Amino acid sequence: MLRTHSCGDLRPEHIGKTVTLSGWVQKARNKGFIVWVDLRDRYGITQLVFDEERSPKEVFEKAQSLGREFVIQVRGEVIERESKNPQMPTGAVEILVQELNLLNASETPPFTIEDESDGGEELRMQYRYLDLRRNPMREKLIHRHRVAIQVRNYLSDLDFIEVETPYLIKSTPEGARDFVVPSRMNSGQFYALPQSPQTFKQLLMVGGMDRYFQIVKCFRDEDLRADRQPEFTQIDCEMAFVDQEDILQTFEGLTKHLIEKTTGTTVDDFPRMTYAEAMKTYGNDKPDIRFGMTFGEINDLAQNKGFQVFDQQELVVGIAVPGGASYSRKEIDGWIDWVKRPQVGAKGMVWVKCLEDGTYKSSVDKFFESSDLEQWAKRMNAQAGDALFILGGPAHETRTQLSALRMELGNRLGLRKADEFAPLWVVDFPLLEWDEESQRYHAMHHPFTAPKPEHLEMLKDQPGEVCANAYDLVLNGNEIGGGSIRIHDADLQSQMFDLLGFSKEEAQAQFGFLMGAFQYGAPPHGGIAFGLDRLVAILGGDESIRDYIAFPKNNSGRDVMIDAPAPLDQEQLNELYLNIQTED
Ligand code: AMO
Repeated sequence: MLRTHSCGDLRPEHIGKTVTLSGWVQKARNKGFIVWVDLRDRYGITQLVFDEERSPKEVFEKAQSLGREFVIQVRGEVIERESKNPQMPTGAVEILVQELNLLNASETPPFTIEDESDGGEELRMQYRYLDLRRNPMREKLIHRHRVAIQVRNYLSDLDFIEVETPYLIKSTPEGARDFVVPSRMNSGQFYALPQSPQTFKQLLMVGGMDRYFQIVKCFRDEDLRADRQPEFTQIDCEMAFVDQEDILQTFEGLTKHLIEKTTGTTVDDFPRMTYAEAMKTYGNDKPDIRFGMTFGEINDLAQNKGFQVFDQQELVVGIAVPGGASYSRKEIDGWIDWVKRPQVGAKGMVWVKCLEDGTYKSSVDKFFESSDLEQWAKRMNAQAGDALFILGGPAHETRTQLSALRMELGNRLGLRKADEFAPLWVVDFPLLEWDEESQRYHAMHHPFTAPKPEHLEMLKDQPGEVCANAYDLVLNGNEIGGGSIRIHDADLQSQMFDLLGFSKEEAQAQFGFLMGAFQYGAPPHGGIAFGLDRLVAILGGDESIRDYIAFPKNNSGRDVMIDAPAPLDQEQLNELYLNIQTED
């Protein structure tokens, strides 16, 4: 070993011992007759002293040339520090260096390796290996490791076994595009990388594994956002001989365990809300229930009173903004501009101030009586001192816009506290979703999701009304998991493919293997998959997942460190039967 202790180990009880440490030079301070060096490794920082009188001459001289991020090994005596640093675990001692061994020199790093670095995001991505030397980054990866270990232990104790499934497969539809891999041995044919191991975990149930899980990479070619990466990790789970309640109980247990073990917070039983209720009260299927501001629909109160803008709308709906009555005209205009941004897309916004003296002031005073506004305020659970922000338009769009406004207000008003955990099950999702563009139904979850048995009858004539035994787990306004009870009957699965517009031949070509397996005694089964990156980020108090992934992609899906994706040379393209001409 190149060290006897780590840079985080030494305490006053080590005083008088001779130790060897190895690490990186965090910083060196040269006072002429004395050089202090902060030596860093994963475990901490220890102060080294090179003293003109007490260190050997050549060691003292060598210390003069140490630069940031040089890798060194030192041997010396642990001594008591004169000016102790109570902020540092090793702050009571220092090493009087007798031997210095330069293990490797370093260029000056392109940004400071400190908790608050001066490096921009793109630069830090390019030199990710340097960024990972910083405490906050290292702690995030250790936190991820701890969550993963807890998951493995918890599920293993419940008899789940971790089984690996292949990455070179055929398309598994989860609603995104596939990443594909050309096959050299099969001219013109391609593997798809899994968007999830969905079909394999179902086949494992047919194979009698009973309880499966896997911490697994999934690949989806979709637009990136703060909570999305093209390759991400799922905690993928499946159970046989269960109903929806068994799954909700099992994975509520896992989630509670993870929250408690990794944050020290205890949480009560998770509330449940139907999809319809979530959309109506929060305009969103993943509501952040850490704060109120629930929707109040006022069609019956606000229409046909002479204000034509509202009269024609399918939905008129608003929220109460705490303290909003004190907003200036300029602030309110700022919010109106915010909802009119193309990303939100509202046409305008009506506002009402609920003044402390019990009167109302609004942008529609000409059309409505004070008593009308009072009723609106009641519907939106407003208090004196609040403002009402109201939108009107087509129902779904308007709910989405108001939800975006609610979340932005929640952020700006500091209502979304990172150390508060509010999990929620959203249940009873619709089975199908109508797609205007392709003029056909899409599976809301995926095509293997079972309709609610009591809705089976409607499948033929009112497919849009059918609810599924499907559920999402939401944490602080983020979808951290989703799953369903599966269809385990070949006929029903075939009917489902039919509804989704697959011809018999297409269904057979793409999913014949699954329907074939269902002919051999498939047990009733269901499961869930958590987004590990999202879960870990939220437990760590963040919503962006990038820092919880060692080597993530940037917003254009590039790894700027290794510079991927990259062109292939013509020879390799030919070998893969890819008829693309490279530029040059
Ligand atoms: P679903 O598509 O809901 O379900 O995915 C499960 C969870 O994975 C996370 N997730 C992502 N995380 C980061 N980047 C992405 N691009 C990304 N896409 C999804 C989310 C999501 O809740 N096979 C089903 C599960 C099942 O039915 O059992 C599935 O994949 O947190």
